[in-house]
Amino acid sequence: MEQSFNHIDKVNGELELPGDKSISHRAVMFSSLAEGKSKVFNLSNGEDVVSTQKCFRQLGAEIEKKHNFVEITGRGFKNFKKPVSSLDAGNSGTTARLISGILIAQNFESTLIGDESLSKRPMKRIISPLTAMNGKIKATGDFTLPLYFYPSKEIIGINYELPVASAQVKSAVLLAGLHSDHVTSVIEKFPSRDHTEKMLDLKTKINNTGKITFVSKDDYPIPKTYFVPSDISSSAFFIVLCLLAKNSFLVIKNVSLNPTRTGFLDVLKNMGSKIETENIKEMNGDIFGDLKIFSSELHNIKIEEKIIPNIIDEIPILTVASIFADGKFEIDKVSELRAKETDRINAICYNMKLLGLDVEEKKDGFSISGKVMNYNPVFESFGDHRIAMAFGILSLLLKDGGRVNNFSCASISNPDFINQLSKIIR
Ligand code: S3P
Repeated sequence: MEQSFNHIDKVNGELELPGDKSISHRAVMFSSLAEGKSKVFNLSNGEDVVSTQKCFRQLGAEIEKKHNFVEITGRGFKNFKKPVSSLDAGNSGTTARLISGILIAQNFESTLIGDESLSKRPMKRIISPLTAMNGKIKATGDFTLPLYFYPSKEIIGINYELPVASAQVKSAVLLAGLHSDHVTSVIEKFPSRDHTEKMLDLKTKINNTGKITFVSKDDYPIPKTYFVPSDISSSAFFIVLCLLAKNSFLVIKNVSLNPTRTGFLDVLKNMGSKIETENIKEMNGDIFGDLKIFSSELHNIKIEEKIIPNIIDEIPILTVASIFADGKFEIDKVSELRAKETDRINAICYNMKLLGLDVEEKKDGFSISGKVMNYNPVFESFGDHRIAMAFGILSLLLKDGGRVNNFSCASISNPDFINQLSKIIR
């Protein structure tokens, strides 16, 4: 499906977005592990979180939509049931990698599959540590899905230093660690999002090697009530639109302000954005609040390596902001972008070249400079939700608008994106 976006003059209004995708996945998983009933308010309605719910239903959790929350009846320690068919993680890397940490600890065989994009994404990064924990996993030659899991006698604890900054790998190891009598520790040099640690209330320590998180069977989840704040990564598209459209003002309510996710706001503020936060509240050890965004004049800045894990999902939309900002945009040390739903370095460069900009694609980064020359582009989403929405926003800002091919993939994280846009366009 090709989606057209006409040029807009300004945006104005208030939005409250569906729940954060990362927190939603974990709320479903931890509630399914816990023995008894949990409640989840404002669960993400994105397709990725639907994939997680399907997998855990197959494993025996009961997941039921009540009027304004989702009720999940979990199974308790090692008490999932053998699924009758393969577990399908769809497009979701978070589902596939996190569930793997749980599947190695069960007393039955299972198979994990995914869609075409997920079936190309690297899984060796979880297979290696989970195998070191005594997990029995079989994969094809290139360490991609499908993965086959076999019962293991005992999951053992490990001390694991993450070779890539990845919350998915960290969480896979921590979830496996929940099933062991021994303590497992995970060390990360540049801390990635910490929802797993916060939601399971795990012990952490910072020293000169980085951050260490500890887990064992004693941390196994119990039923809880979760309120999932609005997704900051989905908010990012509307934030950039408001900053770049003239005479615009937007409020986004109850946005997750977890410090491992707000690097994007820090970068934008350093670029000259006027963004205010207010009504800060706390729930399940994490903060959220309202964002007030005002049209701003932006300039490009140097992006430090240590902030990359914190802004990794926002780089496509940050790049859109950068082409309207003064100066050249340059980013390095982002090779992880090549392992996302699509190769995002390539997808961003391909689309930016359509505008006649000067684009240099490097192995682990890219740079963009010059002026927009083509005002009637048809962008490619490459089936990647964040690429689709980033270039949808860019189209709204071009003087003759633009189009995005295969836009429907936006539903992976935000099925209501077009609706939400129509509420704020003036
Ligand atoms: C996620 C972690 C990140 C992020 C993804 C969600 C999570 O992936 O890109 O959208 O919920 O743990 P990596 O761990 O691969 O960096």
